[in-house]
Amino acid sequence: MVIVRAPATVANLGSGFDVFGIALSHPADIIHVQLAEETTIKVTGAGSQYIPVHPKKNTAGVVAEALDAPANITINKGIRPASGLGSSAASAAGTAVALNALYDKGLSKEELVWIAAKGEEAASGEAHADNVAPAILGGFTIVSQDRITHVDAHLEIVVCLPEISISTRNAREVLPKSLDLGSHVHTVGSAATLTVGMLKNNPELVGHGLADSVVTPARAKLITGYESVQIAAIEAGAVGVTVGGSGPTVLAIPKKGQSRAVASAMVGAFFSQGIQSRAYQTRIGGGVDLYLD
Ligand code: HSE
Repeated sequence: MVIVRAPATVANLGSGFDVFGIALSHPADIIHVQLAEETTIKVTGAGSQYIPVHPKKNTAGVVAEALDAPANITINKGIRPASGLGSSAASAAGTAVALNALYDKGLSKEELVWIAAKGEEAASGEAHADNVAPAILGGFTIVSQDRITHVDAHLEIVVCLPEISISTRNAREVLPKSLDLGSHVHTVGSAATLTVGMLKNNPELVGHGLADSVVTPARAKLITGYESVQIAAIEAGAVGVTVGGSGPTVLAIPKKGQSRAVASAMVGAFFSQGIQSRAYQTRIGGGVDLYLD
């Protein structure tokens, strides 16, 4: 048997739509895989009742088929589906790493990213790698065409997950189909600033570089109370706020040592809009951890 811990991830980070991603130190899924003649999937934990277990419809099952590595796969979800925290990506990435070890395939981490992206296709209809790349490699990742760039970054992160459900499919449907030159210039400036911020582990630069006038405003409308949560986080000591992945998670970059105050302000702001939420005081963390049994 092989056991892995697959971390939550946050894609986009505002200015890096479909390009940027980070791994979080927690929450995470725990996945067990065992050799079998045919793939079976069992899912327990957060939101497991909403996750299909048919191997062709489950991200882990699609990965097992892509690797030609049938297994009994048990997934204990620590990451709620449809959260914007890379739930389906964690299952796909964790299963890819686990089956690579179980079957001694010898594939590199980068090769596993593209296998795991096929699993993502089963969940969202498109093969994005912006969650599976950080889930496997850890840190901050940039997926640009066929190239993956990876940077080890160490920043405090707060993510606040409200009791709202948004599917990636729906969150893509609300996006504008084109953008003007001014928005393009703004986004490139932000994305470049954010990247330098990650290299320098500088929360102010990363917070500034989240700014995006195209994707985030369109998606923020799907999250009741987004604006008041953003204001509350900034007042409590955040240097930048954006939508986490395709939502409904809201991500904040706190000033050093301000995680607790920011987390509590965000939960309070959602609560004042009548919405329950849970905040995680987390950090940029490593990729899938492998444990052999
Ligand atoms: N980049 C993707 C999106 C991530 O925001 O739609 C979600 O899978």
